[in-house]
Amino acid sequence: MQVNTLILGAGAAGLFCAAHAGADVLVVDHASAPAEKVRISGGGRCNFTNLRTGPENFISGNPHFSKSALARFRPADFLTLIQAHGIAWHEKTLGQLFCDGSARQIVALLMDMATAGGGQVWLNTSVGQVRHDGQFQVDLNRDGQRLTVTARHLVVATGGKSIPKMGATGFAYDIARQFGHALTDTRPALVPLTFTDAPFAPLSGLSLPVTARTGTAAFDEALLFTHRGLSGPAILQISSFWREGQDIALNMSPARPLAPVLQQARTATGKRTAATVLAHHLPARLVGHLDLPDLGTAVGGLSDAAIARLTGALHSWTLRPTGTEGYRTAEVTLGGVATDSMSARSMESTHVPGLYFIGECVDVTGWLGGYNFQWAWASAHAAGVAIRDRG
Ligand code: FDA
Repeated sequence: MQVNTLILGAGAAGLFCAAHAGADVLVVDHASAPAEKVRISGGGRCNFTNLRTGPENFISGNPHFSKSALARFRPADFLTLIQAHGIAWHEKTLGQLFCDGSARQIVALLMDMATAGGGQVWLNTSVGQVRHDGQFQVDLNRDGQRLTVTARHLVVATGGKSIPKMGATGFAYDIARQFGHALTDTRPALVPLTFTDAPFAPLSGLSLPVTARTGTAAFDEALLFTHRGLSGPAILQISSFWREGQDIALNMSPARPLAPVLQQARTATGKRTAATVLAHHLPARLVGHLDLPDLGTAVGGLSDAAIARLTGALHSWTLRPTGTEGYRTAEVTLGGVATDSMSARSMESTHVPGLYFIGECVDVTGWLGGYNFQWAWASAHAAGVAIRDRG
């Protein structure tokens, strides 16, 4: 069988690329349903883009690589499609756009767009060997039937390694290696951090706004204590920057300096302990759990230096995670196909004409908040339009 364009992976990027790649497109996926990560994303409501998307919201070995694709397909462009398909949406916070109804509406939109121009989507189709002799020959097994598809353009959109239970594989990296592309180190990202001995188990379920830092990265979002460690948006964000052996620092009261609170309490309610006073400004469960000097001391007896020490510890609570929850729960894979042998304009390999890498498999990883889907749309659009224009 011969097609103009064969797309491996019927996820966010693969289906969106099919929508733009012109006629004679075949998308294949080993899963039994398309775009499963879209379906479960954003708690079932899909945070499909972020209005504030810019290259600064992505981590990559080459921070400039994403600029061209992001500039040519913007959040407003995806929003136009959402509105044209009558999908109701809302902005939640920080520019994050979600469906009012269900993420399944986005899956349906992607499937409609991918097949509108006559494109086919084959599910339950595993991919075997890929050969190249000017064109690409790809061995497929569709529902037990073996066949080889020949294609002028081969688009690799099989995503990263996160959530193997949902069919994630390192297949894109294998293809990249086969065709001489370098890979940057891959690791789970947007993932909860873990600690030995479950130190926060008693606080499990407690959430509060913090500033979380590691190195030069800092995020103002919610922290969630869990049985195994720390989660919540603030932690997922810094997990993409944290490395084993490094500390993280948490400002537990980013909106309100705590030293003036204790200083004022010194004269007004001097007999109360520092813990009692602080429990009016921080969750009482948290204050009760902390083991800090002077928490049990009456505030009237605290010197300025003691207050500075105590509140300093709360504004910069320093912890050393032992690891992460890993690919089992990571929302994305950091790193991937190195961008140095790819065109930033078309996502095409610079040394194997007709070969493209798009979406999460590329070494462009977004922050939490709709950025990863925006990268999937933008990189897919870049490749799709380049293929369509080439005919
Ligand atoms: P994606 O993983 O979507 O698709 C890859 C496809 O390739 C899959 O259908 C897979 O079955 C197929 N495949 C893999 N290996 C194959 C093989 N060997 N042979 C054949 N097929 C193969 N992002 C965001 O911006 N907003 C959000 O709200 C969320 N929420 C979210 C929640 C959860 C729980 C997760 C795990 C992830 C998110 N994300 C997110 C991240 C987002 O889902 C992710 O970045 C995109 O789905 C990436 O799109 P791709 O098309 O590149 O890969």
